[in-house]
Amino acid sequence: MSREALVAQAARTLEWARKGSAPLEPAEMRIPVERYTDPQRFALEKDRIFKRLPLVLAFSAELAETHSYRAMEVMGVPILLTRGDDGRVRSFVNMCSHRGSAVVEDGRGRARRFTCPYHAWVYDISGDLVGIFQKERFGDIDPSCHGLTPLPVAERAGLIFGCVVPGMELDLDAFLGGYGSMLEEHDLQSCHFVGRVTLDGSNWKLAYDGYLDFYHLPILHKRTFGGDYNNLICGDSWGPHQRHMQPDGRILALGDIPSSDWPIDALLAGVWTVFPHVSIASFRLAAGRVYQIAQLFPGDTPDSSTTVLNYLAAYDPDPEQMEEIEKQIDFLRNVVEAEDYATVAGIQRSLRSGAKSELVFGRNEGQNQRFHAWVDQLVEATTPADTYRLLAGAEEFHHA
Ligand code: FES
Ligand SMILES: [Fe+2]
Repeated sequence: MSREALVAQAARTLEWARKGSAPLEPAEMRIPVERYTDPQRFALEKDRIFKRLPLVLAFSAELAETHSYRAMEVMGVPILLTRGDDGRVRSFVNMCSHRGSAVVEDGRGRARRFTCPYHAWVYDISGDLVGIFQKERFGDIDPSCHGLTPLPVAERAGLIFGCVVPGMELDLDAFLGGYGSMLEEHDLQSCHFVGRVTLDGSNWKLAYDGYLDFYHLPILHKRTFGGDYNNLICGDSWGPHQRHMQPDGRILALGDIPSSDWPIDALLAGVWTVFPHVSIASFRLAAGRVYQIAQLFPGDTPDSSTTVLNYLAAYDPDPEQMEEIEKQIDFLRNVVEAEDYATVAGIQRSLRSGAKSELVFGRNEGQNQRFHAWVDQLVEATTPADTYRLLAGAEEFHHA
């Protein structure tokens, strides 16, 4: 079914490529600059978007084996993800029930048990407290009430989604809608985790805007990769999630072959986003497809964010292939840092000047328009139930 949907999307984009054009929005959209700078607005975005929606926390490929784990901080919350004996991924607050220490340092590894470094309480891979150091001298503690605090988590399409607030509702079907089966076409769960780079950035939306527009590719990126690209965009959306591709020469080439033979690499091209903070793009190296999956997280202030660039290969690279991948990771890190994020840092500085009251998104920047419209709606949702009502009412949008 989803291959059909991918073919249909490519076919519509091919039509635009033949015309040398792309769809346009009815009008421009203006965004007040305070939306990128105001601390109150920023706090609402964190509370009602990042602390409410499922976030992409990690990848099935990096927790592929039983007893693998990853510990990291997300939105200020120390999180421990594990894959248990039963193959299930679990998520916990990485916080000991005794006096609150992290039970394992941030990083990845394999373990059956976690021994708290402070006073050696022991937890198993399922988060149960299985050992209290010198229990007889400690007191009357029921271990079954002192496991690690679970967090909502769900695995889908090779992505590990989780909430950072205990007890928050996590309904992936409602959140992803029809986009879930589209994402599955990437087969990310069969990929190999091959690298990760972390970058500091400016306001999360300023940074994210750059993943949503192709308008800048042949301009800002002309010296690195953008010279061969046009700046046209054909985008579809499933609720707040979007996928966009370029009506360019690469898609025109599909016109020469029957659609049943269109290669999967071409069908998966372009940029796939998972609202509110992930962008998935792939490129082809000699041995096959490699993904760059960017996760963006707001920082402590409106003008700070962290971007984690993750790399997954559709093949198990040998040392020579790994060298090629690492060269490409260096290249892409440099593009994002020296071109995109350097520009965005300049924008952030200029926003403080008071020179402009608004930024404007053109009719050719529909992806950005839809993204901001969703952010605006979701910060108005008072309760999680309101949020899910908005998601339930969301429609798919397919460009003509
Ligand atoms: S804080 Fe973990 S054992 Fe004391
Ligand atoms: Fe860019």
